[in-house]
Amino acid sequence: MIQSQSILKSLPHVLKTVDIPALGKKIQGKVRDFYIKGDKRILVTTDRQSAFDVILGCIPYKGSVLNLLSAFWFEKTEHIVPNHMIASPDSNVLIGKNCDPIPVEMVVRGYISGVTNTSIWGSYQKGERIIYGLSFPEGLKKNQKLSTPVITPTTHGGGKGGHDERLTKEQIIERKIVDKKLYEQMEKAALALFDFGSKLCNKRGLILVDTKYEFGLYKGKLTLIDEIHTPDSSRFWIGKTYLSRFKKGLEPENFDKEFLRLWYAKRGYKGDGKPPEMAKQLIVDLAKRYIAVYEKITGKKFKVYKYPIEERIEKAILSYEK
Ligand SMILES: Nc1ncnc2c1ncn2[C@@H]1O[C@H](COP(=O)(O)OP(=O)(O)O)[C@@H](O)[C@H]1O
Ligand SMILES: [Mg+2]
Repeated sequence: MIQSQSILKSLPHVLKTVDIPALGKKIQGKVRDFYIKGDKRILVTTDRQSAFDVILGCIPYKGSVLNLLSAFWFEKTEHIVPNHMIASPDSNVLIGKNCDPIPVEMVVRGYISGVTNTSIWGSYQKGERIIYGLSFPEGLKKNQKLSTPVITPTTHGGGKGGHDERLTKEQIIERKIVDKKLYEQMEKAALALFDFGSKLCNKRGLILVDTKYEFGLYKGKLTLIDEIHTPDSSRFWIGKTYLSRFKKGLEPENFDKEFLRLWYAKRGYKGDGKPPEMAKQLIVDLAKRYIAVYEKITGKKFKVYKYPIEERIEKAILSYEK
């Protein structure tokens, strides 16, 4: 296991952003910086940590963990639906097919849970039984497994103040955001990916609680883009202790961003206003968690490297581009 000391030492050099003028104009998402080159999108996953749609700080090694995990899953799920990955010339870099993004996030949930506004537990607790146009039975408890996974789509960043907005399948089709045939293709792919992911995670002692998929069209063909089954897009619980804790009414042992959200929630922050500064201990714990989740899922040891890594990344991309 990586030493807390080496995480703290790399803190001043974490990957906040990259600047590679030779690639043209840099575009930034919350976590990724990217360049568009012809029909390719060069995505650099940085160490930026976002939650509640806000950048809270940076976590050493996080960018690599996310990118390596995505690459792992993209390879493993190619037979289910085509994805954007062409190559990964560096642990922080993915060369992708540049797609026309479909502005809907397909959120799949196997459990009723969550602390955010878009979580189904939040609504269920208030007494709602039709949520995202789906009906839920009486008597569900927080963190209970659903009889079958459900899809709760949201707009992608298009909602008020950039926050994602809830949608139902019917609204998506009525508003012509996506046509029925394509939406049903996305549904099928999302459920199949979730099933595949859940099974692999179970074998590795984790529960894939919920996750989000983004799709795009590449030459007219449905393509999975962005990231897949990472701790940023998904929640993971420890399998071994889930049931006994659930029965006692205890929160599951989580292995994901929920840990971070809970840290902020405890300090009264839920995404509005200035966030409290991340404590050093929180950063260390998060870095360790990200690495642990990578190792658990892939069964591989994470190769710790020395910061700074800007030059390494630039070299890798430019020699790939040659
Ligand atoms: N292959 C692709 N083609 C087109 N868009 C993509 C592709 N892969 C990822 N994207 C988009 O690029 C951006 C990646 O940056 P990210 O930091 O993940 O953004 P966000 O803040 O939206 O999560 C996202 O807007 C994502 O939807
Ligand atoms: Mg994203």
